[in-house]
Amino acid sequence: MQLDIRTRLNAPFLLGTLLLPNRLIQGPLAGYSCAPLRQLFYQFIPPAYCVSEMISAQDLLQRGTTPTRYSYRAPEEKHLCYQISGATPGHLVDAASYLQAIGADLIDLNCGCPKPKIRKTHPTGPLRPQHTVNGQNTFARRHQ
Ligand SMILES: Cc1cc2nc3c(=O)[nH]c(=O)nc-3n(C[C@H](O)[C@H](O)[C@H](O)COP(=O)(O)O)c2cc1C
Repeated sequence: MQLDIRTRLNAPFLLGTLLLPNRLIQGPLAGYSCAPLRQLFYQFIPPAYCVSEMISAQDLLQRGTTPTRYSYRAPEEKHLCYQISGATPGHLVDAASYLQAIGADLIDLNCGCPKPKIRKTHPTGPLRPQHTVNGQNTFARRHQ
């Protein structure tokens, strides 16, 4: 049984045009998964990809092109997915375009976090369902 799980975890998979060597994914951890933490994983079995901390699309756009703890990517990092959140479709599209331009391999759209503290500052998903649906549609169209 254990061998079966290991075999499955080590099987390659295709995500869009990205061929990933295994199914080990370092998930998004707000407050933690910035570049120094993500680099630690490469000392072990390199993950298929790592995910950034959740980044507010609006905040990212307001900060301009100066790299921050949220957008900084270390040269040693391999496949990197940025997770963005927001309630305004235009901000999500612009933030995704910016991240794509600085080398994002994947973009993950956070569709809502149940934690009240996060819902206050990152109003995606449950708070504004109609915006999220529109945002996802816009996002999908612009990034096909
Ligand atoms: C401290 C902490 C921060 C997290 N931040 C995020 C986040 O920003 N975005 C997200 O989608 N999930 C976030 N999660 C959820 C994790 O990525 C993960 O899905 C969850 O811990 C379940 O992982 P497991 O199935 O390995 O137990 C967070 C979890 C923890 C514990």
